[in-house]
Amino acid sequence: MSLQPSRISAPWRGVIAHYRERITLTSSVPPVTLLEGNTPLIPAPALAAILGGGFELYLKYEGLNPTGSFKDRGMTAAMTQAVADGARAVICASTGNTAASAAAYAARAGLKCVVLVPDGKIAAGKLAGALSYGAQVISINGSFDDGLRMVREATQRAPIALVNSINPARLQGQKTAAFEVCDVLGDAPDWLCLPVGNAGNITAYWLGFQEYFNDHVVSNRPQLLGAQAAGSAPIVLGHVVEHPETIATAIRIGNPARWHEAATALEESDGQIYAVSDDEILHAYQLVARHEGVFCEPSSAAGLAGLAKALREGKINLHGKRVVAVLTGHGLKDPDTAIRLSATPQIIEPKIEALLARLDL
Ligand code: F0G
Repeated sequence: MSLQPSRISAPWRGVIAHYRERITLTSSVPPVTLLEGNTPLIPAPALAAILGGGFELYLKYEGLNPTGSFKDRGMTAAMTQAVADGARAVICASTGNTAASAAAYAARAGLKCVVLVPDGKIAAGKLAGALSYGAQVISINGSFDDGLRMVREATQRAPIALVNSINPARLQGQKTAAFEVCDVLGDAPDWLCLPVGNAGNITAYWLGFQEYFNDHVVSNRPQLLGAQAAGSAPIVLGHVVEHPETIATAIRIGNPARWHEAATALEESDGQIYAVSDDEILHAYQLVARHEGVFCEPSSAAGLAGLAKALREGKINLHGKRVVAVLTGHGLKDPDTAIRLSATPQIIEPKIEALLARLDL
């Protein structure tokens, strides 16, 4: 019997190290990494059956990244580039997840981090993260879109690097999620559905799928199915939304920075984009937790809500197809919504009879 620990596989070293030759950064500094990526692609047969069946459904569970969202893939690249460029400080506007991720990677890199968030519209777990990692958190009386306008100008007028997804390094990191999906499935899926906010992620996925396809790593490219919250659906509506509203605060965005790229990705992939109501989002959010045991934040379920809508309205035929739904952030990011939607725990005396009387078996 060997006394050596058994290695399941080579240790994971983060997305930049793993996909080094595919990531275009103008830097040769060692990656600023928290070993992000390599998230599970979880089969979801129960949910597929509830949605009508006849297709394979997988959940790309991005909530298992180090700070609990897909943003870490982009942030390892953006922060590595910032260090290579000699930056001393970074800044971003955020609905929460980018803020937490930037704060963590800046802490790792020893850089100052400033985040702008819409006051009162950021989920508790995201604020807790950004504050704990030591960022300077500034709450603005305005929307994410106002914040993005302000940080863009700040980087013109002060020595501070922008780490929002208008920074091309972010997309280089985030496209690795598309690579992982293909690496696990052995080819590209037929459909990939995901929530759309500032539209960086849909742009990054398309970049990744195109790259694998053009290099003949895979034989096809997926059709993309995007979903926006009905109260914040500029791409679906075709115009800027001045006062975006939705319970899915992560995607409460009225003027996406990568609108044009998202439109191109949807067109080139022969994709579709839907506006889904808060009720539809919350329904999908509960379904995936209760039937698959996978807890994502409300915004993350928007892609699934869009898929459900497309099926219900007969806009899509998934028979025999492979579908991946990207769950962008962890459910623990937004404990308040989770608890508000659930039944209150029952309180009993510490007596066995009291417990047995409550067992509804
Ligand atoms: N899902 C979650 C959990 C998000 O946090 C975001 C964006 C999206 C989806 C949409 O991705 O913006 O690339 O289209 N959150 C940003 C933030 C805006 O500040 O954390 P996108």
